[in-house]
Amino acid sequence: MDSIKINLRRANFSDKDILSKWRNNIKIRENSFNSQIISKVEHEKWFDDIFKKKDVILLIGLINKKRVGQVRFNINGGIAKISVNVAPDKIHKGIGPILILKGSRFLFENTCCKKITAEIKPNNIASVKAFSKAKFKKISSEGNKILMEYIKQ
Ligand SMILES: CC(C)(COP(=O)(O)OP(=O)(O)OC[C@H]1O[C@@H](n2cnc3c(N)ncnc32)[C@H](O)[C@@H]1OP(=O)(O)O)[C@@H](O)C(=O)NCCC(=O)NCCS
Repeated sequence: MDSIKINLRRANFSDKDILSKWRNNIKIRENSFNSQIISKVEHEKWFDDIFKKKDVILLIGLINKKRVGQVRFNINGGIAKISVNVAPDKIHKGIGPILILKGSRFLFENTCCKKITAEIKPNNIASVKAFSKAKFKKISSEGNKILMEYIKQ
C-alpha cells in the first residue's frame, strides 16, 4: 500500500471548483447517502462554511502535486465521521485506502479524537474493502448502511 506516494494538505479556496465537480460526478453520487446534484450556490455555501467551523477537517490528497481525492472529518464529542472520495478518473487504482489511512493518522495527530466512524452503502464493496485495508473494522450492517470504525491505539 505504500507504493503510491500521496501527500495530504488541508483544503483551501483553490479546491472549491474541483470538489464541486467530484461531488456531482455520477460515480460519487451513486455511493453517497444524498445522491442529489448539489447546485453551485449550495456548494459554495457549504464550502465557505467549512472554513468557519473548527469541527470539520477537509484534506486534499495529491500525487505529484495533482489532486487525486479528498477526505473529510466531521467531529462531534471526540468522534469523527469520515467521508472520502477519490477523483472519479482515479478510482480503483489503490488510492482510496492510502487517503483514508493517512487522513486518519492526520486526524489522530492533530485533534483529540480517539475514534473514527464510516457509514457505507451496503452495495459499495470497493469502499468496504478500502476502509478494511485502512484498519477500519466492521461494526454492524443493518438497514441501509454498513458501519465501520477505527479506534486510535
Ligand atoms: C470507495 C473509494 C474511496 C475506494 O478507493 P479506491 O482507490 O477506488 O480503492 P481501491 O482501488 O483500493 O479498491 C478497493 C477494493 O475494491 C475493489 N473494487 C474496485 N471496484 C470494485 C467493484 N466495482 N466491485 C467490487 N470490488 C471493487 C478493488 O479491487 C479493491 O479490492 P482488492 O484490493 O481486493 O483488489 C473510491 O472508489 C471512491 O471514491 N468511490 C466513489 C465514492 C465513494 O464510494 N466514497 C465512499 C463512500 S462511503
